[in-house]
Amino acid sequence: MRKRITKAVFPVAGLGSRFLPATKATAKEMLPVVDKPLIQYAVEEAVAAGITDMVFITGRNKRAIEDHFDKAYELEATLEEQGKKELLRVVQSVVPKNVNCIYIRQAAPLGLGHAVLCAKPVIGDEAFAVILADDLIDGEPPIVRQMVDVFAQYQCSILGVQDVPREHTKQYGIVSSTNLDTDIEKVHGIVEKPAPEDAPSTLAVVGRYILTPRIFHHLEHVKPGAGGEIQLTDGIDALMRDERLLAYRFNGVRYDCGSKLGYLQAQVAYGLRHEDLREEFAAYLKTVI
Ligand code: G1P
Repeated sequence: MRKRITKAVFPVAGLGSRFLPATKATAKEMLPVVDKPLIQYAVEEAVAAGITDMVFITGRNKRAIEDHFDKAYELEATLEEQGKKELLRVVQSVVPKNVNCIYIRQAAPLGLGHAVLCAKPVIGDEAFAVILADDLIDGEPPIVRQMVDVFAQYQCSILGVQDVPREHTKQYGIVSSTNLDTDIEKVHGIVEKPAPEDAPSTLAVVGRYILTPRIFHHLEHVKPGAGGEIQLTDGIDALMRDERLLAYRFNGVRYDCGSKLGYLQAQVAYGLRHEDLREEFAAYLKTVI
């Protein structure tokens, strides 16, 4: 029987040190782009792909994420009393009713691979998606939807990739691959954050993965890698030796909201197409450039 993806893992335990002091007491995934926090864009992307179980790997200072996806009784009662129907609808529709939010605490920041491994008891023996909320990707259909469709066809692990400038390879997992089909590559190698001169290509993994459950076996065994952390990339490298691994050149624009510049670019792009702001914001930008 063909397998479907019903679960997504959101590793959200990172310290967000690049955004201090904004992230001193709250999660970087709660930073808004226009009026929605990054984590909500990520969850909406999963929902659009038919995913119903959202597994958040959280850490200290991340309680705002749980509150965001929970019912807000006082706020809803106040909006109701004030007759603010549209705002009430906005608040109540943060997660659709059929969606489950599951929280697992990662006690120590041991790396992205370790964070994903924390999801093992909930994922069980199914393929699942991993979504890094600070990679905000604007695509139609949304990127995870595109990748779930690729999975439906190939039934194997898939990495979301895009070409990056060679001088940026040190920020990403970089794959070596051969072309298999339109936008689809067969991966032969993957290495975490290589220096530009060592990078096997410029094809970078950017925050969207579909992984088979075999990944857990490898994450349990990989040794600390780049930065002394348990790297997801190293687990994927081992997985690739057991099973077919594909890379998918997604169709969409990615904003690296883990960096200040990428975050500002996302604000401008999403502001310029926000229904209520579009025109005034465009006019304002013209005056400042
Ligand atoms: C992580 C991964 C890296 C990937 C990147 C995408 O790195 O380790 O392989 O390319 O996300 O954003 P981080 O950005 O957490 O350092």
